[in-house]
Amino acid sequence: MTTLIIAIDGPAAAGKGTLARRLAAHFALPYLDTGLLYRAVGRRVLDDGADPSDPVAAEAAARTLRPEDLDRADLRGPPADAAASAVAAIPGVRAALLDFQRSFGRARGAVLDGRDIGTVVFPDAREKLYVTASPEARGLRRWKELLARGVEADLATVTAEVRARDAADAARAAAPMKPAEDANLLDTTDLDPDQAFAAALALLADRETVAAKA
Ligand code: DC
Repeated sequence: MTTLIIAIDGPAAAGKGTLARRLAAHFALPYLDTGLLYRAVGRRVLDDGADPSDPVAAEAAARTLRPEDLDRADLRGPPADAAASAVAAIPGVRAALLDFQRSFGRARGAVLDGRDIGTVVFPDAREKLYVTASPEARGLRRWKELLARGVEADLATVTAEVRARDAADAARAAAPMKPAEDANLLDTTDLDPDQAFAAALALLADRETVAAKA
């Protein structure tokens, strides 16, 4: 039996997580936020007083990651964002996290969101979405998230951090952020979460129709 994998990639604050969670509920599939794995690795390296771009420290943290590391309350916010992006550029870290992501998806099918799900983790996924939005829209969303969590932040600074992280995630040599050639593109700049969900369902349904007719 083949399991259904829905791969969702795209830059920071494009609406991937909200969309992925809703698609998972809709299709009764498990959901994995793969960014959380990189965040947890980055956080452990910071806890040890090491530099997140140190390959030895970062790979050691990735190889000894425990499930409870993913439940920490301090995996969001600018320091965790930067540490996650730094460890994510290290090939040994990515290799250490690959098996976990694949096993998770293969068990019962899954919706996974990240940067390289459709290109590296599940290149054969039947469904791939690449979710984007303008840098301004994404900066505004991240800024609102921070405010909602009681974190004071400056909109221009937050937008600049989002842009810098995307640039680093797209420029790295190891599994750079990019759309898979067979991904459907979804731009959420002018869409609210309900509209993004409807647009994603329409894209997935279109593909089912095409496959059925082929
Ligand atoms: O999706 P996120 O913002 O929580 O991801 C945090 C960082 O982790 C992001 O800057 C890039 C990295 N990441 C990655 O390289 N590959 C993934 N599949 C998921 C996240």
